[in-house]
Amino acid sequence: MSNTSFPPNFLWGGAIAANQVEGAWNIDGKGMSVADVATYKPHVDNKDYSSHLAITKETIERAAKDPSEKWYPKRRGIDFYHRYKEDLALFAEMGFKTLRLSIAWTRLFPTGEELLPNEKGVTFYKNVFKEMQRLKMKPIVTLSHYEMPLNLSLKYNGWVDRRVVDDFVRFSKVCIDEFDEYVEYWLTFNEIDSIHRHPFTTAGIIDELSAPGGEEKDIYQALHHQFIASSLVTKYAHEKNKNNKVGCMLTKLMTYPLTCSPADVELTQRKNLENNFYADVQVRGEYPGLIERDLQNRGIVINMEKNDRKLLKKYTVDFLSFSYYMSMAESADPKAERTPGNTVLGVKNPYLPSTDWGWQIDPKGLKISLIELYDRYQIPLMVVENGMGAVDKVENGKIYDPYRQAYFEAHFKEMKEAIDEGVDLIGYTSWAPIDLVSAGTSQMSKRYGFIYVDADDEGNGTYNRSRKESFEWYKRVIETNGDSLYEA
Ligand code: BG6
Repeated sequence: MSNTSFPPNFLWGGAIAANQVEGAWNIDGKGMSVADVATYKPHVDNKDYSSHLAITKETIERAAKDPSEKWYPKRRGIDFYHRYKEDLALFAEMGFKTLRLSIAWTRLFPTGEELLPNEKGVTFYKNVFKEMQRLKMKPIVTLSHYEMPLNLSLKYNGWVDRRVVDDFVRFSKVCIDEFDEYVEYWLTFNEIDSIHRHPFTTAGIIDELSAPGGEEKDIYQALHHQFIASSLVTKYAHEKNKNNKVGCMLTKLMTYPLTCSPADVELTQRKNLENNFYADVQVRGEYPGLIERDLQNRGIVINMEKNDRKLLKKYTVDFLSFSYYMSMAESADPKAERTPGNTVLGVKNPYLPSTDWGWQIDPKGLKISLIELYDRYQIPLMVVENGMGAVDKVENGKIYDPYRQAYFEAHFKEMKEAIDEGVDLIGYTSWAPIDLVSAGTSQMSKRYGFIYVDADDEGNGTYNRSRKESFEWYKRVIETNGDSLYEA
C-alpha cells in the first residue's frame, strides 16, 4: 500500500495516432500516406507475425490505385476528423490532463515535397488544438507516427534518401510555428526502433528498392537520417520557444532470460542493449561503441556528413517517452515456445498470462523498465502508450471490461512504486482511450478503448461512441490522482 499520491502535476491522459483515427484520407487536400495502403490482416491465430508485414512495390502501387476503403481500414479510421469535438469532450469528461496525438504529414504536405503547407490541413489541427485548450488538455504531439507521404516512399525509398530529412524538417517547422501557442510537448518519431521490424510502415522503405544484400545497410542509413532529423527539429523547437520540450519515443521491449543459463543471459543482454541503442543516440548524443563495432563487424557503413556527430551530440532530447505493452523472454534453445508481442515474436514466459493476441501481460516489467531507463538516462520519463487489445462484447447495450481495468490497475501500481523509488515519471497516456484501427493488423475488433466505437473490421456500423465500464474507473483514477487505486 502506497501512502502518497502521484506527483501533483502528473499528466494523466490517452494517446492516439492520426492514421488510426482520423479517416478522411482523401479529402481537404490530404495526400496518400503509407498507412493508406495498409491492408486489413487479422492474425489472432497466426503466430507468424512476419507474414502480414510482407509488402512489395507491386502491392503498394495496386493499393494506391484502389479507391475503395473496404480493405484499407486506416483510410476510414474512426472518423475523428469529423467527430473530434465529441471525442475530446469524452476525454475531458474522464478528466484528461493531456492527449497524445499525431499530425498527418500528408494533410499538410500531400506529397511531402511541397514548399508551402495545405492550409486546410493547418486549420484542422488548429481547430483541434483550440478545442483542447478550451478543455484544458495539453497536447503531446508526435510528428511522425507511421504516416509518411507515400510519394516519398516510392520516389526515394523513404528515409534511405537524405533529401527526406529536409522534407521532414520543413513539415516540422511549419507545425512548430503554426501550433506554437498550443503545443509545448513534441515527440519526433514514434517507436523509432521499429524501423527494423517494419521498415515500410516506419520509414517508407520498400525492401526490393535496396541493392541486393544492401537491405540492412539501408535500414541503418534511414535510421541515421531520422536521428539527424530529430536533432534538427529539437534545435528548431528550442530556438522557437524556450518552453518547448522535445522527446524521443521508443518501444520498450523488456526481455528476460528464460533460464539463468549464461547462454540465455548473454542473448538477453544483447537484446536489451539493442533496445537501448536508439535512446543512447537521442539522449546521450552518440552511437554506443558496442553498436558501432557490431555494425563494423557486419560490414555496415553508415554515410555521415561532416557535422552529423556534432549535431547529434548538441541537440539531444529533453525527455524520454516509450510504449510498454508486454515483455518477452529469450532462450538459446531454438525449440523454445514463442508467442507474438508488439511486432515481435518472443519466447514465451511461463510466469505470465497473455492477451487474446498473445501479448504477455507483465506489469512488473513496466516498473523494471522505468527503473532501468531512469537509472541509465537520468532525464524525465513519460509512458506514452500502454494498454491491452481485447475482444469486447456488447451485452444489453453495455460493455463490461474488468480485464482492461485489471490490466491498467496493475500497471499503475507498478508505476507508482517506481515513482516512490525516485523515478521522475511526468506523465502517462493510455493506448488508446478510444477504440481505433489497429496499427499492426488494421482490425477494429482489437479494441483498446475506455470508449467503444460501433464499427466492425469491414467498416460497418454507426460509429457511435459509448462509455465502457472502465471509463468511470479511469475517470476516478484521474480525479483522485491515483489514490482510488488503493481504496478498499
Ligand atoms: C504501438 C504503436 O506500437 O502499438 C501504435 O505505436 C499501435 O500505433 C500500438 O496501435 C498497438 O499495436 P496494435 O498493432 O495492436 O495496434
